[in-house]
Amino acid sequence: MGSVLVYNDRIIGEGWHEKFGESHAEVNCLENVAASDRHLIPESTIYVSLEPCAHFGKTPPCANRIVAEGIKKVVVGMRDPFSRVNGKGIAILQDAGIEVVTGVLEDECRWQNKRFLTFHEKKRPYLHLKWAQTADGFMSGENHSRLKISSPITDRLVHKWRSEEAAIMVGSQTALLDDPQLTNRWWTGPQPVRIVVDRELRLPESLKLFSDNVLTLILNEKKELQEGAVRWLKMPRLSADEPELITEALYKLGIQSVLIEGGASLLNSFINKGLWDEVHIITNRNLMVQNGLRAPLLNAGIIFEEIISGDDKIVGIKNNGQL
Ligand SMILES: NC(=O)c1ccc[n+]([C@@H]2O[C@H](COP(=O)([O-])OP(=O)(O)OC[C@H]3O[C@@H](n4cnc5c(N)ncnc54)[C@H](OP(=O)(O)O)[C@@H]3O)[C@@H](O)[C@H]2O)c1
Repeated sequence: MGSVLVYNDRIIGEGWHEKFGESHAEVNCLENVAASDRHLIPESTIYVSLEPCAHFGKTPPCANRIVAEGIKKVVVGMRDPFSRVNGKGIAILQDAGIEVVTGVLEDECRWQNKRFLTFHEKKRPYLHLKWAQTADGFMSGENHSRLKISSPITDRLVHKWRSEEAAIMVGSQTALLDDPQLTNRWWTGPQPVRIVVDRELRLPESLKLFSDNVLTLILNEKKELQEGAVRWLKMPRLSADEPELITEALYKLGIQSVLIEGGASLLNSFINKGLWDEVHIITNRNLMVQNGLRAPLLNAGIIFEEIISGDDKIVGIKNNGQL
């Protein structure tokens, strides 16, 4: 969420919501105004991508702060669907006699706020799927042989995607066969929670995802335990036919978004139910294997980005009708 304060076509303050629990965009924007410009605040227009909040959460209400600053015009990208705000922030501003313009660049604001919106509107995490495939559509070779499909540059891009989501998830077979670390090593920013779906607890604790002291969640049907950074979350049931059991559990844990990195069975479980928001497919245009594990096929979606990098083509797809 972002905010800009403008006086006579000159930006005098900018801010964004940098960290959960800390000051919101509007407050950071106002705090960033230079001392020499502070007297201009009441004559300025504040632009916000999301409706200013109206409640005492981890910080005081932003709508009240705007009123207290004496600002006379607020431009809002989109209304906040979160039940404790949802129009109440706009009402505080209007009741104080402030001119409020709403719905400006609303689609762009929704895309920017996609994780937060999905979490509150759909009561589940934002689901970002990702896989790498050969030119002929395979994710691994015959007998699960590991293929080097992506390049160092696309590997780095994957770590960027990791840094943008609250969690990364893989299936038990991927954890067992590939022994991935699932850490963000090649990009700046936070390390997401690692999640592995291991219904029957087949995974040995010698795997890398049990190390590094990174918060790790093992979804399973057998054991409830917290040991160091690893939590085994016992679920009444887990099934590839019911991926919603996973999203419901993650919603209850407050996990706002997940990068699902495979393998095919886990990805297909979500795709078959149309339960996804964004997909990135990395295709090595010069690698053909003819046999192996088939990559998922999508029968819906809108391409929103295409990048060529060496042998790799990266396609970003968003789900139809979303956002
Ligand atoms: N190229 C790439 O981008 C990429 C990425 C990752 C992995 N891979 C490759 O993919 C292969 C592994 O893929 P895979 O399809 O065999 O296995 P997988 O998807 O890693 O794991 C499959 C297992 O996960 C569980 N599972 C899947 N969906 C579930 C759901 N919704 N709820 C609960 N459990 C669920 C099932 O376990 P139960 O049977 O215990 O129920 C299933 O057997 C490896 O060869 C790996 O190298 C490639």
